Amino acid sequence: MNLAEPLQKFATNSLEEHWMPFSGNRDFKADPRLVVKSEGVYLWDHKGGKIIDGSSSLFNVAAGHGRSEIADAVHAQMLQNDYSPHFQLGHPGSFALAAKLSQILPEPFNHVFFTNSGSEAIDTALKMVMAYHRARGESQRIRFVSRERAYHGVNMGGVSLSGMVKNRETFPVTMPNIVLLRHTFDPESRFERGQPERGAELANDLQRFVETYGGTTIAAVFVEPVAGSTGTLVPPRGYLERLREICDANGILLVFDEVITGFGRLGKPFAAQAYGVMPDIMTLAKALTNGAIPMGAVAARDEVYETVTNAAPENAIEFFHGYTYSAHPAACAAGLATLDIFEREGLFEKAAALTDYFLGAVWSLKDIECVYDLRGDGLIAGVEVQHDGVPGRRGQELQKRLFWEGLHVKFTGDTGILAPALIAERAHVDEMIDILRRVLTTL
Ligand SMILES: Cc1ncc(COP(=O)(O)O)c(C=O)c1O
Repeated sequence: MNLAEPLQKFATNSLEEHWMPFSGNRDFKADPRLVVKSEGVYLWDHKGGKIIDGSSSLFNVAAGHGRSEIADAVHAQMLQNDYSPHFQLGHPGSFALAAKLSQILPEPFNHVFFTNSGSEAIDTALKMVMAYHRARGESQRIRFVSRERAYHGVNMGGVSLSGMVKNRETFPVTMPNIVLLRHTFDPESRFERGQPERGAELANDLQRFVETYGGTTIAAVFVEPVAGSTGTLVPPRGYLERLREICDANGILLVFDEVITGFGRLGKPFAAQAYGVMPDIMTLAKALTNGAIPMGAVAARDEVYETVTNAAPENAIEFFHGYTYSAHPAACAAGLATLDIFEREGLFEKAAALTDYFLGAVWSLKDIECVYDLRGDGLIAGVEVQHDGVPGRRGQELQKRLFWEGLHVKFTGDTGILAPALIAERAHVDEMIDILRRVLTTL
């Protein structure tokens, strides 16, 4: 590949000024890994190396990189109407996108609120829950339930709900009244493919909270159907169903954080459909715009929207919340073009068709000595390696080594999370697994 053009365009002599997110800045700047081009399921680095994108970048580039349909739609939108306010004003794109989303969302979800990220979607969902209970005269529901090893983004609401120690110990001032369910990782279920048979009873933690705090004080339960960023924890069989049951018995809202699981990752549009359990609110982001333009969303059951909306005086603002860039016209154009691609190319069905092959290929790594566990469902799988005495150190080193060997995998701790784009073919899966095997066998 001729690198002269992309490199020249951004020529700089210093990497110092950019304080990079979720990165070891000193380590990275000593040995940078710059992506200068991306296309399909491949990335190219600044030295000309070709890297297969094993995690759909950050689980967002589901339809592959360089989709001209999205670029063209955004370009056309920017020329037509680059921005217009939307507090008490609107533009057609947001209504079209919400309507299109409601076609693939489960039936009772026909209302969508737009944000700019998954983290904002989580904060929005928290407020939606509060507004809903207040509208019903149940403002005493002040407690939120989340889960150990949960990741719900980085805004203060999400950090408060998070069950990851690194996200909490530096930022100890979080929302009060949050209690955490136990996580669902069980060493006895290691190497089980798909939903583990054991563990549904862990959902009974919620029943204990009901008995300890009173069901009428609990507002909502937030869970990722598959806990993604803490290493792919697939819900045990019956676990989500049991949470739903306890929520129903106590007037508690169930929120699925589908930021990773949404848009075909589990072979259906959303995990709610894949696992047959309906939440009350769903948070979305990532693949919604195929990563091209930042956007998140919160989908609400009709009853949630109607309760909040109808409780306000006529002509009044019902929900005091929104961002300057909620439903940005360019993001809506990107979202509409992305959903068109998903539909036209049957990518959710394609993901379902590839699942068996993908999981089979991942499970072929089981014999490698350093592999501690394999977990996964649909097109997402965690490959956890035995730590080297300092948890996370090996994972960080592996992520770098794999990159120079031609594979991008997002690591969290010592778990690499494989999540190929939904356009991936079997040969791409083979390429990812071959590189992984080559590198893992040298550990
Ligand atoms: C389940 C989940 N929720 C929320 C977020 C936060 O999304 P964002 O990084 O777009 O703010 C993430 C990001 O990885 C996520 O995995």
